[in-house]
Amino acid sequence: MAKKIIRVSPSLLAADFLNLKKDVNRAIMAKADWLHLDVMDGSFVPNISFGFPICEALKDCPIFKDVHLMINNPINYVERFIKLNADLITFHIEAVKYKKQVRELIDVIHSHGCAVGISIRPNTPIDTILPFLKDIDLVLVMSVEPGFGGQKFMPIAVDKIRQLRQIIDEKCYDCYIQVDGGINDETATLCKQAGVDVLVAGSYLFGKEDILDRIEDLKK
Ligand code: DX5
Ligand code: ZN
Repeated sequence: MAKKIIRVSPSLLAADFLNLKKDVNRAIMAKADWLHLDVMDGSFVPNISFGFPICEALKDCPIFKDVHLMINNPINYVERFIKLNADLITFHIEAVKYKKQVRELIDVIHSHGCAVGISIRPNTPIDTILPFLKDIDLVLVMSVEPGFGGQKFMPIAVDKIRQLRQIIDEKCYDCYIQVDGGINDETATLCKQAGVDVLVAGSYLFGKEDILDRIEDLKK
């Protein structure tokens, strides 16, 4: 049987912002598959990270841009991120009140040829996103409370990944499973065993001399 492909998406939040170009290039040279961009608004999460100017600076970077929106009212902002060459936009199910609005967001993002992800916080059950699973490209299982890098992995994510893997495989949906928060070699192994496709890692990768080896190991 062919070995499953694991993708690694380094989270820019842990990069050196005074030397962003250098860090992004290092991640690309280290064979990162995607680049994870954490956008926070100080409202959906109790922290503010970065937004349009950083995405603009990265607009022509030769890497798949994985934009994780931890913001309220994502519908008001998605088109601007798409104009800045986002390849995937992931919004939080908890930030959108009605199913109808979730559908609208999926359609708007897809209408621009951009991939769509939906994320769930550690305490949000997977049932909330099941109705949308067949229409989205990725489900992001948060393994920490969104808002900050460098937190401890919450094992509850492993069960969710396992359940989602089963549903996605049974129904033959074309949907990746991504995990984000507290990923290192050990927690990555648990997630891979449960069936994850894409690993986000920030503090485990940026600022590390052996980023190339670390990414290579995560992909194994
Ligand atoms: C947290 C962000 C994560 C974060 C991961 O809200 O969504 O992407 O940067 O950082 P680490 O890998 O350090 O937990
Ligand atoms: Zn993230």
